Amino acid sequence: MKHLLGIRELSAEQITHLLDTAESFRDISKREIKKVPALRGRTVINLFFEASTRTRTSFEIAAKRLSADAINISVSTSSVSKGETLLDTARNLQAMSPDCIVIRHASAGAPYHLTRVCDAAIVNAGDGSHEHPTQALLDALTIREHKNGIEGLKVAIIGDILHSRVARSNVYLLSKLGATVSVAGPGTLVPREFADLIEQGVRVEQRIEDAVADADVVMVLRIQRERQTDAFFPSMREYAVHYGLHANHLNLAAPDAIVMHPGPMNRGIEVSSEIADGGRSLILDQVTNGVAVRMAVLYLLAGSEHAELPAAHPVEDDLESRAAGGVRGRTRHQTRGTRN
Ligand code: CP
Repeated sequence: MKHLLGIRELSAEQITHLLDTAESFRDISKREIKKVPALRGRTVINLFFEASTRTRTSFEIAAKRLSADAINISVSTSSVSKGETLLDTARNLQAMSPDCIVIRHASAGAPYHLTRVCDAAIVNAGDGSHEHPTQALLDALTIREHKNGIEGLKVAIIGDILHSRVARSNVYLLSKLGATVSVAGPGTLVPREFADLIEQGVRVEQRIEDAVADADVVMVLRIQRERQTDAFFPSMREYAVHYGLHANHLNLAAPDAIVMHPGPMNRGIEVSSEIADGGRSLILDQVTNGVAVRMAVLYLLAGSEHAELPAAHPVEDDLESRAAGGVRGRTRHQTRGTRN
């Protein structure tokens, strides 16, 4: 796997490997010194063309906890604001030899286009309404942590399915790992393509009550007002009444059902505060697991070769070899090999 563009292209084995690797990284964030040298000398660029709190921050934290150099590019202060195209921006970033570029963009397929002009590993951090693979992976890690597995679970996904890259990535991932997925939302917000996924265990429900009945996991999605060009439902108030998740819905779910939301959430619209802040909510656990998942993704795409290498600092090696009248013209890699 050179890039992570979506869940759809991954096998169940690849997804499980990513989740297992993330699990092995989870403890690093609980240590006093939250850093390992796995990506020392590597460069990760965060290129975000859309707003983000969780994804951008957790990719930066993940890169830093793996000792990579993390560079954040804010599009409002980059040359994109002067009219530079996405591909020209990517070519110029590639000219500085990053190992990984993490991109969020409003257009579906933007990460794929970067793979055509960049040698760096490309990670999709959300492209339009298409996919958000690391969100689905962190959701799966959270479910696995609390349910000891995914196969055989019943998962309800409620809300604005049409505009949701999170829903698409989750439906692919959960069905590949053997869960049954029910989606529910206003008819105008459930795309026809989901009916094609019925053979893979996806059910499309008209009523939220039917989707959450006996569910082990209830995943609520945000109403994406910024992507809605038409009136998909009469008013926010009506949406909150008919498709907002309330305590009475949870009474229909399994007694130990958990509630998830990818964030950012519209409190009182798609989910009541009582549920969002209640004992079944794993919303902040999802954010915590986001760091471990993004560490795993960066490590597997940008650092497997480094994982084999000893924990010597390349700059120290160079300085030491120069102080000793050392060898000129060695590559960084050769210098490390010589020391150890
Ligand atoms: N879930 C998610 O992608 O959140 P951000 O938009 O804050 O990154």
